[in-house]
This record gives sequence, structure tokens and C-alpha cells, in this order.
Amino acid sequence: MFLQKLLVYLTAACMFCYILVLSATLNVLKVLSPNLARKLILKMGEKVTMTQNPKFSYEDWGLTYGSLAFIKVASQTMWLSLGQEAFVGEDAPDSPVVTMDGEKTSICNYLKGNRPLVLSFGSCTCPPFMFKLGEFKQLVRDFVDVADFLVVYVAEAHSTDGWSFGNNFDIRQHRSLEDRLSAARILVQNDPLCPVVVDEMSNVSAIKYAAQPERLYVLQAGKVLYKGAMGPWGYNPQEVRSVLQKTR
Ligand SMILES: *[C@@H]1O[C@H](CO)[C@@H](O)[C@H](O)[C@H]1NC(C)=O
Repeated sequence: MFLQKLLVYLTAACMFCYILVLSATLNVLKVLSPNLARKLILKMGEKVTMTQNPKFSYEDWGLTYGSLAFIKVASQTMWLSLGQEAFVGEDAPDSPVVTMDGEKTSICNYLKGNRPLVLSFGSCTCPPFMFKLGEFKQLVRDFVDVADFLVVYVAEAHSTDGWSFGNNFDIRQHRSLEDRLSAARILVQNDPLCPVVVDEMSNVSAIKYAAQPERLYVLQAGKVLYKGAMGPWGYNPQEVRSVLQKTR
């Protein structure tokens, strides 16, 4: 546990430095060589499926890279990640969540016997999360006989009043549980084929699972079986597919 925590702190420190260096570099390049800046940003966008996403053009998101809102949100994400408690092979941290009916429950309540429980954390304003929803739904269809699935709706990744993108869902950062539930309802309309719950306003589940902006986990028998890398890069339903195939 100690080593894992140390690794968490080192990773967050490195990421924080990376965010600062990247932002400084991009802002200098935007002035000196806009073309090169654009190329670099497109390359980063490709890694997180922004360039493949037909809903968005470069103008919607590209120029926000390196902005103050970008630095703020990325640093906040790193800061929150310091509180993570979910590690592969260890006990799955239980954490309170709220159902779409406003009832309090907890993540571990969704664990049934020995069945794997796939957790998908995310929010509507996170384009890579919504872009991969189809892939996630296919996963649910293919494994619903052997596994359970739960979407945990967390704080908005690209709220209109934060690091906002053009042409995205117009959702402000939730000020109340009602705000969070109404944002989650938009996801429910996209029918993720499994129950959706929301994180509490303290973001406790997102913190324990370092799940901001999005992340995938598989729990089984009270333990963490699989921990996807931090989103958006690490949000990979194909990895979950191979984990579930092994448990068949
Ligand atoms: C929850 O997370 C969001 C996004 O990071 C943040 O704006 C909000 O202040 C957080 N809430 C609390 C209580 O820390």
C-alpha cells in the first residue's frame, strides 16, 4: 500500500509538471509557429479520440489546450487523484452513490456474489466518454450473462463554466445533487444498458477511485480485479473485454 501511494504521488507530481511545461510550450508555439502548435494539439487530440469524433472540429477544442481553464482543470484532477484508494488485488473501496431516484446506496451494493462488476465513471461533457459509449454498450450486451455493469456519473469534465468545448453538451458544473441528477438523466436518455448512479456532491467516489474525468474498473468478490488507466487515454473498453473473457 505504501509503495502504491508513493507511486500515486510521484505520478501526480510528474503530471502536474507535464501540464505546466506543455501549456507553456503550447502558448509560445501558438505565437511563434501556430502551424506546429496545431499539429501537436491534433496529435494529442487523436490519442483521446477528439479528431475521430464527428461531433467536434478542431476549432471546438484545439485552442483550449494550454489555456488557464485547461491548467486549472488538469491540475485539479491530479490533486483529486492523490486521494485514491482503489488498487488491483486490494479490497474495493466502498463509496456512497445516489440512484436516479435520489436514494442513497453504495458501489459495493452492486456486487453480486462472484460476478464481476464493471464500473464506468464519466460525464456527458466528456467527449471521449460519450464517443466510446457505443463500445461500452456492446460490452454490456456481450457480457450481461456473466457480469454486472454500473455507470457512476461524476462531476462534468468540460462544463460550460469550466474548461468548455464548442458544440458540446451545455451543462454547468453541478451546484446541487439535483443538478447532478439532471445531467445524469441526459446520459440515461442515451441508454447505457445498465444502472446509472451519481457520485455524491463531495465527489467521494471519484476521489476514492481517481475517476475524474472518466475511468473503468472491474471489481469481483470485494476486490479490485482491473483498474483502467486514468481517462481519457486510459478509458479502454477493449481491456475490460479481455478481462471479462478470462473470467468466463
Ligand atoms: C467536485 O468536483 C468538481 C470538479 O472537479 C468541482 O468543481 C467541485 O468543487 C467538487 N466538489 C467539492 C465539494 O469538492
